[in-house]
Amino acid sequence: MKKVMLTLFILVILTLAACSGNETTESTGTLSPIPADYAGLTNPLGADAAMAGADVFTNNCAACHGQQGHGDGPASTALDPAPKNLPELSTTVADDYLFWRISTGKQGTAMTAWKGVLTDEQIWQVVSFIRTLK
Ligand code: HEC
Repeated sequence: MKKVMLTLFILVILTLAACSGNETTESTGTLSPIPADYAGLTNPLGADAAMAGADVFTNNCAACHGQQGHGDGPASTALDPAPKNLPELSTTVADDYLFWRISTGKQGTAMTAWKGVLTDEQIWQVVSFIRTLK
């Protein structure tokens, strides 16, 4: 009898663990977790940085992402996966996510790391600009 109780107990624990696991996946969707170095960062610049960010974006990002960030730049048709629609992504993620992705890129895609190419300030400017896209 004790063994049956123990087995039941373990089953309950396993079920609970599985459920809480699912919850985590659902709440973050398909987005990857932000590494500790970047998690919680907030944009130190004001909304007016978006003007400078527009220039950074035109010069470095628009060829793939398109001028309005819809993922339809001239180079986009050759890419698999295609560049993200940034205004859409922007509604689902915080500043730390955008800053991290732009800084370190995304493995397995044409999205390269911009840290070292752009300054941190320029990356934050571009984050401000992405926030203005619709
Ligand atoms: C050579 C083409 C190319 C250039 C240039 C480029 N990107 Fe990307 N970008 C991509 C691709 C491809 C993806 C991946 C889309 C996916 O995973 O579905 C991506 C993804 C992203 C993402 C989302 C990553 C995620 O979590 O899914 C952001 C944000 C982003 N780019 C911003 C930028 C910014 C800002 C610049 C300019 C500084 C830039 N990109 C330049 C091709 C490019």
